[in-house]
Amino acid sequence: MAKERKTMFDQDIDREIAERMKDEYGVAGSDRELDPRWRASFKIVEEIKPEHGPGEVEGPEQSPSQEYREALINLLEMQADSELAGALGYVPCVKMAPTVEEFLAASMIVKDEFRHARVVYKLLEYLGIDVNARLQEHDFTLRVEEDQTDLGTRRVAADKRVNIFYYPIDTWYDFVAFNFCMDRGAGHQLEDVLESSYKPWARVMEGIFKEEKFHIAHGDSWVRQLAQNPETHDKMQEALNKWYPRTMNIFGRPRSSKNKLYRRLGLKKRDNDEVRQAFAAEVKERCQAFGLQVSEWKPEWERLPEEAFVTG
Ligand SMILES: [Fe+2]
Ligand SMILES: [Fe+2]
Repeated sequence: MAKERKTMFDQDIDREIAERMKDEYGVAGSDRELDPRWRASFKIVEEIKPEHGPGEVEGPEQSPSQEYREALINLLEMQADSELAGALGYVPCVKMAPTVEEFLAASMIVKDEFRHARVVYKLLEYLGIDVNARLQEHDFTLRVEEDQTDLGTRRVAADKRVNIFYYPIDTWYDFVAFNFCMDRGAGHQLEDVLESSYKPWARVMEGIFKEEKFHIAHGDSWVRQLAQNPETHDKMQEALNKWYPRTMNIFGRPRSSKNKLYRRLGLKKRDNDEVRQAFAAEVKERCQAFGLQVSEWKPEWERLPEEAFVTG
């Protein structure tokens, strides 16, 4: 796949973290302009002409059709449920933190995910969805036992979270591997939303995306550190082996009909597999630099979901 840049999430890991921590202590930064380098920059393999350009649909009243409304609500429900389940899954990680600074960093990540959930549920409220009823209906704290190691692409309940959020995060290695893999996977998927035809979604995504970049940088910083220390290298490798294939399963199958619909409505820009390949290329590059092996992932398209999940 042709790319204009070496890696979308090309970043100075330490600077990313230092800047965010600085923000947390009250230094201006939350209203910074979005760095143009974060914008989608991949060549589209199969062109589908969108019926609505970026930000063209200004709000719920301007929804152009029932089809548009339903597709939008479906994507927003997947994101909101994933953000909430993700926040709840991260809560136990706060007390795994090895330093005072890391208690703060892990808490910030938890707070970010709850904020993302709230913001996206708000968008659903504006679209007439009864969010409180949704919360009553589903148990977002639900997790499977760790020995159920391969859910494939199966959900285990009726909520719409990405199925990776049904797995428990049991150790600090798992937490940072999850930041490294899943927050990165989510970032790659959410990049398309920055140019979504639904303006309110695109607008809130700018803030969400900045925070996801911090989660990814947090993962990168720790994965690098634990991989390069001979005493912790093997455990880090083990955690990566667990979370990488689980993340590769979230993107959906290539050229799915749902994806084509979302692209036609201007709600997505890229094919599911293009997003997966962008993610995989970046993980590979990082792992090479950190001295880790990326396990082979074999696509089983018939097992993958018809639509890619939007995640947080
Ligand atoms: Fe995140
Ligand atoms: Fe998030």
